[in-house]
Amino acid sequence: MTDQTSSTNPGQGSDSILIVDFGSQVTQLIARRVREAGVYSEIAPFNAAKEAFARMKPAGVILSGSPASVLDDNGPRIPAEILESGLPILGICYGQQSLMHQFGGEVLLGDSGEFGRAFIEIGDDCALFDGLWTKGERHQVWMSHGDKVTRLAPGFRPVASSEGAPFAVIANDEKRIYAMQFHPEVVHTPDGGKLLKNFVRHVCGLAGDWTMAEFRKTKIEEIRAQVGDKRVICGLSGGVDSAVAALLIHEAIGDQLTCVFVDGGILRMGEAEQVVSLFRGHYNIPLVHVDASTLFLNGLAGVTDPEAKRKFIGKTFIDVFEDEAKKIGGAEFLAQGTLYPDVIESVSFTGGPSVTIKSHHNVGGLPERMNMKLVEPLRELFKDEVRVLGRELGLPEIFVGRHPFPGPGLAIRIPGEVTRERCDILRKADAIYLEEIRNAGLYDAIWQAFAVLLPVKTVGVMGDGRTYDSVCGLRAVTSTDGMTADIYPFDAAFLSRVATRIINEVKGINRVVYDYTSKPPGTIEWE
Ligand code: XMP
Repeated sequence: MTDQTSSTNPGQGSDSILIVDFGSQVTQLIARRVREAGVYSEIAPFNAAKEAFARMKPAGVILSGSPASVLDDNGPRIPAEILESGLPILGICYGQQSLMHQFGGEVLLGDSGEFGRAFIEIGDDCALFDGLWTKGERHQVWMSHGDKVTRLAPGFRPVASSEGAPFAVIANDEKRIYAMQFHPEVVHTPDGGKLLKNFVRHVCGLAGDWTMAEFRKTKIEEIRAQVGDKRVICGLSGGVDSAVAALLIHEAIGDQLTCVFVDGGILRMGEAEQVVSLFRGHYNIPLVHVDASTLFLNGLAGVTDPEAKRKFIGKTFIDVFEDEAKKIGGAEFLAQGTLYPDVIESVSFTGGPSVTIKSHHNVGGLPERMNMKLVEPLRELFKDEVRVLGRELGLPEIFVGRHPFPGPGLAIRIPGEVTRERCDILRKADAIYLEEIRNAGLYDAIWQAFAVLLPVKTVGVMGDGRTYDSVCGLRAVTSTDGMTADIYPFDAAFLSRVATRIINEVKGINRVVYDYTSKPPGTIEWE
């Protein structure tokens, strides 16, 4: 695992914002809102914040929420360098409580806490409210806190309150320090993005001119500086992330890059052919196509635990990469299209309390013994930002707009044992489903749609005969970043058309069901 804060960043210098992560699950949404305001931001875990602050020299700092309590002696603290810097600071939830705790105010354990939708009343003007909220108005926000501030530190004044939090928003205009008890970064605070924009633009004085074109330019310089004249291999998965990473790296270092496309037998229909023709034919980028399906499928025999599958696949991918690296005369670097959501959902920052949900194979599944250095130029980006970058790099729309596909592929869409035969069955069902979605003009309205093959057999009747075959699940969700998702509400005629085609055309499936679970509480993939 690489240190998230160890690379130089594109917005480095006084035009960037440092976000200090105290372990909230939604910290990355702060980064997203700040970028939507046209300002580059970078997140550092609290225990690496001091170094990140010194390196970045940001124009302002935002402090995230946390599951921790400032009343706990071991609770994370704001580094003194940041508190005493004289720079603008915005504290969110735990961030607010820590500011008060460390500046001499008082925080107490709340009797009941406040969770979910709440309304705040604007009590006074404040730079965060410029052009947005005025005195006397009521506005909806999203609260999620147990502890609360009960006395302000000297120099602070309340500017908004809620029933449960008298100091819902506080300000110290002289020091340019602002803080709020609620979460402006989540969509349930409808004006939250604008509050954050006011902070970075009005309070920190940033121009808001950060663009993807600039990201591309500075990332290319960064890749050149990191790699020098060494060789890089890049694992292509068939998805947009690794394709964009490869194009960016190729633009930076040309044929020092070799792409490796590992076909583990767990890809979708036609995927291998498309990748090979795009990279070899369209871009003329050196590409090694490895058929490792026997290796993968033999290794998956008898494996049913989702995490065991993920770990095995992650490890085997790296094994194959390493072999290929040796064959091309040694590559020191391995490039991956790791995205920001992959990072935060898999990794508890050292000392940070964010919980591991799944081991995404391109992060948590990396074997300790892996002896190549990582190049992960998309590590700070969200999926939709990667698509913007892909278009910027001229990647054909069919790739740019493609639904995400996980590294462990069909293996995590076949609960229970994965076999070649079951992969073939699922591939066919999945292809029919996606073809129907495309034909109905729905592909771009859906974040991700796929079929799942269940380890359950049910009885059916076809013609005059009894069948006893597998159940196929269909999943389709809308999302903006994969962190939360809603089911796609197909009409019944569409679903019954797909079900009929799958049952008629795919031998081995005799029943089709539709998955009605949002995320949370479900995850998008079934494993
Ligand atoms: P979940 O299932 O966690 O998925 O709700 C969120 C998004 O991440 C994708 N996903 C992965 N992507 N490697 C990846 O590159 C992985 O191991 C992996 N697991 C899930 C998933 O398809 C969805 O878009």
